[in-house]
Amino acid sequence: MISEEQNRTLTQVGPGTPMGNLLRRYWIPIAAEVELERRWTKKVRVLGEDLVLYRDRSGKLGLIAERCPHRGASLAYGIPEEGGIRCPYHGWCFNHRGECTEQPNEPADSHFATKIHVSGYPVQCLGGLIFAYMGPDPAPLLPRLDAFVVKDAIRVVGQTVLPVNFMQIMENSLDPVHTEWLHGHYHEFLNQEMGNPVRVAFSRHHVKTAFDVFEYGIVKRRLLEGQSEDSDDWRIGHPVIFPFTLAVGSGGLGTYALQMRIPIDDTHTWHVWYNAYVPGEGVEVPPSLKKLCLYEVPWKDESGEFITDYIDGQDIMTWVTQGSIADRTDEHLGTTDKGIILLRKLFMEQIRRVEAGEDPLGTIRDPSKNDCIVLPLERKKHHFSEGFESVTMRFQTRFCPVVRDLIELFDSVGVR
Ligand code: FES
Ligand SMILES: [Fe+2]
Repeated sequence: MISEEQNRTLTQVGPGTPMGNLLRRYWIPIAAEVELERRWTKKVRVLGEDLVLYRDRSGKLGLIAERCPHRGASLAYGIPEEGGIRCPYHGWCFNHRGECTEQPNEPADSHFATKIHVSGYPVQCLGGLIFAYMGPDPAPLLPRLDAFVVKDAIRVVGQTVLPVNFMQIMENSLDPVHTEWLHGHYHEFLNQEMGNPVRVAFSRHHVKTAFDVFEYGIVKRRLLEGQSEDSDDWRIGHPVIFPFTLAVGSGGLGTYALQMRIPIDDTHTWHVWYNAYVPGEGVEVPPSLKKLCLYEVPWKDESGEFITDYIDGQDIMTWVTQGSIADRTDEHLGTTDKGIILLRKLFMEQIRRVEAGEDPLGTIRDPSKNDCIVLPLERKKHHFSEGFESVTMRFQTRFCPVVRDLIELFDSVGVR
């Protein structure tokens, strides 16, 4: 249980808030590159700010405040120019820094434009995603996580908007025991209701859990009943990368899986499942898998009920039913919640570091450390014993429109 004030500190992400200031020290994914291929602009709401991402006539991406400072029209309907974007209403033009560069109907000798500017943030592309940096200069390096930079990968990216604060999703990632219940026993109960009394690998009991702070976040480890301490799950585990990314292990094939929980505002989160698969040298990849595939992940059915027959849908049900901002003044944490307590403590520490003028955890400024960041990650994960197809279809990947091609490809190269 924490105080109301502490809960606000952990969950408010807008400009000028302690958490908002911390989050603005990191590069934040805002879109996939494929989204700007057939259109010039995309409205983006991130950390409580309404912005427009656009491609100018020279092909360069820009990110500035959506509202035109003249009389408030949306620049998401703007006209792309050589070095910026022009408001559709009266033609004021803005460059990538958000500076007004032209006011076509003001007198030729007017200097009014020099006094007008909006927020403008740098953007960079990596691994098919577009990232923004919304903090003070100098910007740190955009972390080149292995999933983003691995070569010749098939990339499939699921996305959805969830009506909840990002912190309760992150706390779930420091709560290993939930897998045993939510994805194990609860899933088995649902199966039984459908006349399918099959045990699922997730339901194995947790003997112990451990959490280690490392240079990019926290590594979470678990030992399940029947496992030896040599198992990857206990020896290596997988990390939460500060401030909003979870990396999960796989069944041994060249798979990289990230879950990114990007705060849209205090009560909404853009959830991104970023999967990269490496089929291996000499394997012919079908055309459908050559380009990054971005798809929507549904979590409610036609009657408005949660879809709980897949792993990520079960997680989403719990996050959303906790309320838009979980009331942490009315919780009762037990011994298995030590990871959650550690996560909150670490966030509070990073807030204080930023307030003291220091870089927070995971900041990279040395290019020699940023060629490819290989994360500690279990490769033989307990529930992957069930095979590639079975696992793939039980996660949100089943909504990927090219999932069958993916399964066929890995079948053809003998990955199980
Ligand atoms: S509202 Fe944008 S130029 Fe007038
Ligand atoms: Fe989960």
